[in-house]
Amino acid sequence: MQNECLLELKGLKTTFFTENGPVTVVNGVSFRVSAGETLGVVGESGCGKSVTSESILRLLNEKTTRYEGEINYKSKNLLSLTEEEMRDIRGNEISMIFQDPMTSLNPVYTIGDQIAESIMIHQKLKKKEAYAKAIDMLRLTGIPSPEKRAGEYPHELSGGMRQRVMIAIALACQPNLLIADEPTTALDVTIQSQILDLIQDLKQELKMGVILITHDLGVVAEVCTRVVVMYLGEVIEEARVGDLFANPLHPYTKGLLKSVPQLDGDRSQKLYVIQGSVPPLSNVPKGCRFAPRCAYSTKLCEESAPDLSGTEHKVRCWHYEAIVQKEGGLHAAQ
Ligand SMILES: Nc1ncnc2c1ncn2[C@@H]1O[C@H](COP(=O)(O)OP(=O)(O)OP(=O)(O)O)[C@@H](O)[C@H]1O
Ligand code: SF4
Ligand SMILES: [Mg+2]
Repeated sequence: MQNECLLELKGLKTTFFTENGPVTVVNGVSFRVSAGETLGVVGESGCGKSVTSESILRLLNEKTTRYEGEINYKSKNLLSLTEEEMRDIRGNEISMIFQDPMTSLNPVYTIGDQIAESIMIHQKLKKKEAYAKAIDMLRLTGIPSPEKRAGEYPHELSGGMRQRVMIAIALACQPNLLIADEPTTALDVTIQSQILDLIQDLKQELKMGVILITHDLGVVAEVCTRVVVMYLGEVIEEARVGDLFANPLHPYTKGLLKSVPQLDGDRSQKLYVIQGSVPPLSNVPKGCRFAPRCAYSTKLCEESAPDLSGTEHKVRCWHYEAIVQKEGGLHAAQ
């Protein structure tokens, strides 16, 4: 079952119709997630990670958003389902954990009632059975005294506990795929690693596929099987985690890896910063989107956009072979 492909994005394009005209925020993103694997999605703020995940569940306002491409889930293209069919998918088959649990929990209901409500909707159980199951889910996420906690309101819980409640809600219906968008960013480091361990354990137990969106390459190294690196709405590299860390091919990925603090490194040494800044989406470069920040950019790069090429290890760069040959591995990067 390990290799059963659950979700396949094929050239997903998400365009917002804004006051200043259409803006394509996700520009032809493709990747696959299998049952039992954790796919990491990384990239700087604003590169389109959240919009990609919200597009998968079609959570964006469809009056002002256009989706193109395919989002194939178990051989159904989610983009061609009706809203009613999508409601069956959300929470039942694919669940999402958001960055800030407070915005997704309802302050006026106890957490036990909120989890039970979600179970009742999706599994058509009676209230009493659903409530018992809600307590089981709280126990599964490692919340102490789950019976007592179930009767409490969101504001009575710490940030880490609330995030566990969100996970309990997301997992209550035993989804096949969990999308976790920065699930630990708001939490302190110890709680962060407990939550990540929990997601990993539940992934094993429930045989889910997981998409983990994060800024943190340390988290990727710890829990992901494969990783997709995004830049300005596009995938610029995709590889198994070990390959990406040992042999990053894209100049942007090399820069990202060099800007991660090394635990055993010299703390007095300055962290590497990728030069320049991300151009606005309203004015993306015509050729390679990374060209204005890339030390290896040539005329070809400025004029023509490279495709994502390769099979196991994919990269979107005209010159990656020459760069690797000339400069060697990670420390070569600009
Ligand atoms: N509803 C919207 N209308 C117009 N533009 C939007 C909308 N939602 C997001 N964007 C823009 O889309 C781009 C990608 O946003 P997104 O939230 O996906 O980034 P991200 O990679 O998740 O960043 P972060 O790491 O900060 O969470 C940003 O430039 C953002 O301003
Ligand atoms: S295609 Fe050119 S500009 Fe883009 S990353 Fe590669 S070398 Fe740099
Ligand atoms: Mg985001």
